[in-house]
Amino acid sequence: MSGLTIAVPKGRVLRSLAALFERVGVDAACLLADDRRLIRETPDRGLRFLLLKPDDVPTYVEYGAADLGVSGRDMLLERGYELYQPLDLEIGRCRMVVAARRGVTVPAVPRVATKYPRVTGDHFARSGIQAEIIYVQGSVELAPITGLADVIVDLVETGETLKENDLEERELIAPISSVLVANRAQYKLRHDAVRPLVERLRSAIVP
Ligand code: PRP
Repeated sequence: MSGLTIAVPKGRVLRSLAALFERVGVDAACLLADDRRLIRETPDRGLRFLLLKPDDVPTYVEYGAADLGVSGRDMLLERGYELYQPLDLEIGRCRMVVAARRGVTVPAVPRVATKYPRVTGDHFARSGIQAEIIYVQGSVELAPITGLADVIVDLVETGETLKENDLEERELIAPISSVLVANRAQYKLRHDAVRPLVERLRSAIVP
């Protein structure tokens, strides 16, 4: 295959992604190797993977440093990249929600801590609520517990983190999953290589 470069996120999604590649006959064991190499190749050198912080994947693809990438829909919604999104891979499924301390009344003008200020701003504006948005990068669940914010907007997968921090879901904003993204120019220029891989992946997706 093809000599394509694919930007992939380090972390939880990698295992499901490797399994998806295996289902289309790509030996993707290199994705799961326990070492510090940031570039990994399949044994036949058909595919080259760049292992990145999830938030950086779209940037590498947008600038053409990778032909394709695997990005959470959360980041695509938040940052509005100039990318093709040919395929929802239906892995890394979770949801973006508003959450608050269990049983606590949220004030009319809430302070909202989140890693997603744009999506959050749009959501509260649509609901007619004037919210003060506080940007944080992680461990967002700490914000309501410590008084930094009244509510949070964050991703929930199993719900365990909310539960263990005495928080509860109040509203669903959007279902989230991992999306295959493509550089617009490369998608056309390298169409002969990209298209067969996209079609093979499409046939192996479990909805
Ligand atoms: C994510 C998310 C929640 C948690 C949800 O954080 O921001 O904190 O996972 O998962 P759960 O519903 O299965 O408990 P992540 O582990 O990526 O770390 P972070 O807090 O540093 O963003």
